[in-house]
Amino acid sequence: MENIEQLKQTTLKQIDEASDVKSLEDIKVSVMGKKGALTEEMKKLALLSVEEKKQMGQMLNVIKSEIEKALETKKQELFAKELNEKLAKETIDVTLPIREENIGRIHPVSKIYEEVVAIFGEMGFEVADGPDIEDQFHNFNALNTPANHPARQMQDTFYITNPESDNFDDSYVVRTQTSAVQIRTMEKKQPPIRIIAPGRTYRSDYDATHTPMFHQVEGLVIDKKTSFANLKGCLYDFVKTFFEVDELPVRYRPSYFPFTEPSAEMDIGCKKSKTELKIGAGDDWLEILGCGMVHPNVLKACGIDPEEYQGFAFGLGLDRLAMLKYGIPDLRTFFESDVRWLKHYGFMPLDESSMTGGLSNNGGLVR
Ligand code: DAH
Repeated sequence: MENIEQLKQTTLKQIDEASDVKSLEDIKVSVMGKKGALTEEMKKLALLSVEEKKQMGQMLNVIKSEIEKALETKKQELFAKELNEKLAKETIDVTLPIREENIGRIHPVSKIYEEVVAIFGEMGFEVADGPDIEDQFHNFNALNTPANHPARQMQDTFYITNPESDNFDDSYVVRTQTSAVQIRTMEKKQPPIRIIAPGRTYRSDYDATHTPMFHQVEGLVIDKKTSFANLKGCLYDFVKTFFEVDELPVRYRPSYFPFTEPSAEMDIGCKKSKTELKIGAGDDWLEILGCGMVHPNVLKACGIDPEEYQGFAFGLGLDRLAMLKYGIPDLRTFFESDVRWLKHYGFMPLDESSMTGGLSNNGGLVR
């Protein structure tokens, strides 16, 4: 009995003096583990008479639960202590400014992408997408550009052999235009349709304003009464918001695209000098995008009745927009992965483009 009282006292004292969670574990094992002191006492119960067993058993159980309780209380206390020490050591001052040098930059094309999505998103457009590797049906045929159509020569296409067919008409392409997403969207969705499709496009071309991979945004609106006037209003709102200038003259020149009729190219006013290009009022014009009313053949190819529905489409080059808006002279540099270039032309990651928070956040443009 005295032994046991002694065991209890020593154990409680040890628990009280324990300085970390690990030593508590050790104490627990030494008392209540398989070969622990208390376990040994429990084993001895078998040798006692029924009466003694009852008395002793009860006592041992009381001690056991007292020790368990002490262990638990101490454990909580030590946890809290360790946590407080950690918190005190690892304080973070959230009001400190960002360490600019270490956080990388957003590429101008990504920035333009965000801006375009923010503007059209506000107008109620959804973002659609399609594959980079296309079949000729989606990239050309359904866009009213059958094989041998002269317009196919307008684009220097990369073809990919179809392993399942020797027929050239079955070969794939890396899409030459995001217009392919018009077809994919109309195949899946019934009008009304209002989408933009930003993405990568590919053509065999390489100079200061052309790279084999570049980015376009396609726009498509289909409804019962969509008119050329709607097209003009929509694109005017877009360019004005995008270039963030108060006065921006625009004009539409008649043009040709197989998938639109009538087709047009939109120009914006600008002022060109030897060293500078200023977007806004001036005597010069700058071509900015292609557009038009969706050709009835395109609607038919997607199972949409051109007697009931009509719409407009447009396509513009994202990289070209970035070059114009941020004054970047050579497109090839966009894809050279030179961190010095990115540091110069890139944007701070936290300056998100939004219609309410400001588009390009020129303050974030690191120069
Ligand atoms: N796909 C055309 C190109 O790559 C751009 C374009 C022009 C898209 C007119 C359109 C459009 O949707 O209506 O040159």
